[in-house]
Amino acid sequence: MIKVGVIGSGAMGSGIAQVAAFAGHEVHVYDANPIAAQVAAENLKKSLEKLVEKSKCTKEKMSEVLSNIYFQSSIEKLSESGIIIEAIVENIEVKKEVFEALESIVSENCILATNTSSLSVSSIASACKKSNRFIGIHFFNPAPLMPLVEIIPALQTSEDIINTSISLIKSWNKTTVICKDTPGFIVNRVARSFYGEAIRIYEEGIANIATIDWAMKEIGGFKMGPFELMDFIGHDVNYKVTEIVWEQFFYDPRFKPSLTQKRLYEAKRFGRKSGIGFYDYAENAQNVEAVKDKDLAEKIFARIISMLINEAIDTLYLKVASRDDIDLAMTKGVNYPKGLLAWADEIGLGAVLENLETLMEVYEEDRYRPSVLLKQMVRENKHFY
Ligand code: NAI
Repeated sequence: MIKVGVIGSGAMGSGIAQVAAFAGHEVHVYDANPIAAQVAAENLKKSLEKLVEKSKCTKEKMSEVLSNIYFQSSIEKLSESGIIIEAIVENIEVKKEVFEALESIVSENCILATNTSSLSVSSIASACKKSNRFIGIHFFNPAPLMPLVEIIPALQTSEDIINTSISLIKSWNKTTVICKDTPGFIVNRVARSFYGEAIRIYEEGIANIATIDWAMKEIGGFKMGPFELMDFIGHDVNYKVTEIVWEQFFYDPRFKPSLTQKRLYEAKRFGRKSGIGFYDYAENAQNVEAVKDKDLAEKIFARIISMLINEAIDTLYLKVASRDDIDLAMTKGVNYPKGLLAWADEIGLGAVLENLETLMEVYEEDRYRPSVLLKQMVRENKHFY
């Protein structure tokens, strides 16, 4: 079994290390900040102990996993790795420097991977001399719990590296989907309108946040409403991803961030982690209540789901990923109750197109333009499944 190297011991790095160690690999983790590594080692032990308490892991397995993970104080200790997954700060220059340094340490056959959620994989790959061994392997947070991993070949990645990476990640008990190196990959692109359109509806005064959350849960069956979910993810992360995806799509209005969320971000009202975001999490806080009006809820749901479906269809149209992978990604990566393309069939492509055309007529904004594929399919009376 190959040795696995992980760079960065933050939320993602330590989660990925745990997943690989669970699968039986010897894992070597390096973090530039020794305190971060120490905290990660302590948290890892605590989280495994919790699993044992909940009977989700035996004591023996816990000891095995812990003894498989080595926190190293120098990057050279990762030299025998068969694969190295980088999960450091989301900064392209810093990532490139790390891979340049790594290439002089590891063997010719070592796969080099990034867990970036928003940067161009091909651009990071360009820092490597042997760039055909470079690939994006994108886990979701928390990595031990979330089943999805997006595999993103760079333009430079060779076929055998793609295949080896997929088999390896599958052997870690994960579901893989493959997608083109485009902003947001599948999940972080398609999910944008779940947040963005919900905020628009709120900004326009159509409904308050609690009503929009209620509508998406009640009518759509989502586990969390958009505002609850943004508060949970944290506006520091969610706003930044929105902004980066929008910039990288050359400011396509479909992905345009909102001032409402930008202000929360600027005020450091990050959501649950800071005690306040869209909702106030203080003990006796008075939050707005949902107006449980079914007709209003249906309208809210129709608008948001049409936007989500449109993006999923465009993602397919532009060959970013396959039909099955797009649906799998949204159900396994962000717990959507159904795949969006299957949902489109259920709602009816004609109805989705009509919703978008109405929005387009009312707002006259490019944001609401229907995907070419959606229009084609309606014309030809086709379904996804
Ligand atoms: P984090 O901030 O929790 O951890 C990053 C760690 O990297 C820190 O411990 C830091 O000391 C270390 N580090 C920074 N520069 C370093 C360097 N030059 N060499 C070695 N270590 C260095 O960050 P997080 O959330 O774990 O994210 C890491 C990566 O994973 C980012 O690229 C992020 O976009 C991506 N990602 C994050 C997700 C999330 O929900 N947090 C989900 C999926 C991907």
